[in-house]
Amino acid sequence: MTPEEIIQRTAEYVKGEFARDSSGHDWWHIVRVWKTALALCKYENADVYTVELAALLHDLDDWKLVPSPPAHLPPSGGLPVGDGRPARAEAWLRQMDIDPALAEHVCEIIIGLSFKGAQVETPMRTIEGQIVQDADRLDAIGAIGIARAFAYGGHKGHLLYEPASPPQMHASFEQYKNSGSATINHFYEKLLLLKDRMNTPTAKKIAAQRHAHMELFLEQFMREWEGGEF
Ligand code: ADP
Ligand code: NI
Repeated sequence: MTPEEIIQRTAEYVKGEFARDSSGHDWWHIVRVWKTALALCKYENADVYTVELAALLHDLDDWKLVPSPPAHLPPSGGLPVGDGRPARAEAWLRQMDIDPALAEHVCEIIIGLSFKGAQVETPMRTIEGQIVQDADRLDAIGAIGIARAFAYGGHKGHLLYEPASPPQMHASFEQYKNSGSATINHFYEKLLLLKDRMNTPTAKKIAAQRHAHMELFLEQFMREWEGGEF
């Protein structure tokens, strides 16, 4: 199979897996990350094939979507349950007969990608990883980021806002992952931090604009909450 055919097949596979998600991680999130990553490639010297594979497969094993296995069973994917590997992405790459070094690079990107708490560093070794991380993070901020945050909060049964529970700057992935706090907190715990964590200059510029939209939204949200318009 040519790389083009493999990308095509991979896109079809991922689309099938994500068709019914309602947590803000649906197929269109993958499409946006894929397109944004390709757009960022134009400004960087990166291997586009690696970027495309990692963008398409990046959420297949995400802990937010794949339930943790019961304690008495061995881990079955679901990143990172402990030091888990992205089992489903890995199996797919093997099935597509991808060169092992390339498959390993794609898995490394998937493992390193996710935000893991305000005080937890998530460095990316390669430009391909940096691009996919930027693309994924750009989709978490701005107007779409706002929409996704509330979709995710609703999916998890979180409140919109709880004035009595201030945001927490999580020092470990465990704490971040287990937080059930209101969605407005998520802006302070993650989304407003992302603009300073972009890797590429192009993503930094776009993130600054999207950040400004979130700040306006939060100001207006609080004005309405406090009855400040009357
Ligand atoms: P990451 O792997 O960095 O978390 P994803 O693409 O998997 O990136 O998804 C992140 C999305 O999940 C964000 O857009 C965010 O809206 C949503 N999300 C995660 N945790 C929460 C939360 N506690 N409250 C609201 N949204 C959340
Ligand atoms: Ni994602």
